[in-house]
Amino acid sequence: MPNIPLRNGGPNARIAVIPGDGIGREVTPVAVQVIRAATTKRNRPLEFVEFDWGADKYLRENVSLPDGAVEMLRDEFDAILFGALGDPRVPSNQHAAEILLGLRFKLDLYVNARPTELLHPRFTPLRDRTPADINFMVIRENTEGLYAGVGGFFKKGTPDEIAVQEDVNSRKGVERIIRHAFDYARTGALCSGRSLDRQQGESASPAASSSHRPLRLCMSDKSNALAFAHDLWQRVFKSVRAEYPEIDSRHLYIDTLAMELVRDPSQFDVIVTCNLFGDIISDLAAQLAGGLGLAPSANIHPGRTSLFEPVHGSAPNIAGKGIANPFGAVLASGMLLEFLGWSEESAVLKQCVKSALAENVTTPDMDGCKPTLEVADYLSNYAAKHS
Ligand code: NAD
Ligand code: IPM
Ligand code: MN
Repeated sequence: MPNIPLRNGGPNARIAVIPGDGIGREVTPVAVQVIRAATTKRNRPLEFVEFDWGADKYLRENVSLPDGAVEMLRDEFDAILFGALGDPRVPSNQHAAEILLGLRFKLDLYVNARPTELLHPRFTPLRDRTPADINFMVIRENTEGLYAGVGGFFKKGTPDEIAVQEDVNSRKGVERIIRHAFDYARTGALCSGRSLDRQQGESASPAASSSHRPLRLCMSDKSNALAFAHDLWQRVFKSVRAEYPEIDSRHLYIDTLAMELVRDPSQFDVIVTCNLFGDIISDLAAQLAGGLGLAPSANIHPGRTSLFEPVHGSAPNIAGKGIANPFGAVLASGMLLEFLGWSEESAVLKQCVKSALAENVTTPDMDGCKPTLEVADYLSNYAAKHS
């Protein structure tokens, strides 16, 4: 697809690959293999550069995110394919926070888009629900809130200890994420100027009809209890929604949202919420569509280097056993290709996962009996054949 404006405008799309820890190192190579299979026929190649940031390097060299890494990623790469971080040998999780949260914050990837789409009816735990019922996008604020790292200890280690974790909500931060969610509801595009376009039929974002239909939006907070931080969310929501009169928008408290997602997920198209609630609700949502193993996410700053990863973590309980589900990483790669403007290849990636589900070529977490590498071969053969 010539003449697609890549962020750097160069001849190649450059992808930084950070497999990380645990099963991140098992599923990320599968994602690269499947991307390659879907894109080899393209006349503008993808270039992958792998980085070994993770627990091993941290324990060996005391380095988490190396000096200059953020600037290098920002200036020399179009996108980042990320696996997972977390290792029992680092109980503080410090390296994971410095690398993953560091990249989200320092690249200012303020949109964490987490689609939930039931790709095969037998994988929802909800009775009588079909793919038409489970197809929505969680848009999670990704740069502030309780994740801002503001706080501290007082009298640490004593019986009088106090621990404070501040919930940081800026007007700018709240407004840009709510506005982004409304723009997505209006246009179906996660990035203006980029694709990630839900109106293109088989795209990486949840499928919508190819006809243009504004999506319903739900803002969720806990303003009945968090009278300062979420009062700001309420006021910003009210002022931004006035600019989008055609969008059917409403508010639910987060506890009610959790209940409603299970009771009737068909009522949701777009959910926008703060960092912590988005983290929690996206795991719940993932399970509605078959589990954490196949949930993808995109950490985006429109027009800048963005990061794509499965929602799941490093799963130390199954790491090294060769049974990690690679679907989340592959679907996240589909979002990455959409971001680069390669919609057809992105659609192939989603289609190969759908086909594997239909044919029971799945790992044990999805009631299958295939090891990761066998699923990988199925996916890449399918992708090569259909691209
Ligand atoms: P987890 O997502 O790693 O695992 C939760 C459960 O889901 C486990 O039973 C695991 O085996 C299963 N699971 C997850 N992904 C799977 C897959 N692809 N295939 C098969 N089964 C899968 O969450 P956790 O156990 O709470 O956390 C483990 C570590 O990962 C922690 O250090 C945590 O901080 C980290 N973590 C990292 C990320 C990330 O890097 N984005 C996300 C979540 C958790
Ligand atoms: C996620 C993870 C991270 C988060 C952790 C590893 C810090 O759970 O990406 O969902 O809470 O954002
Ligand atoms: Mn999470």
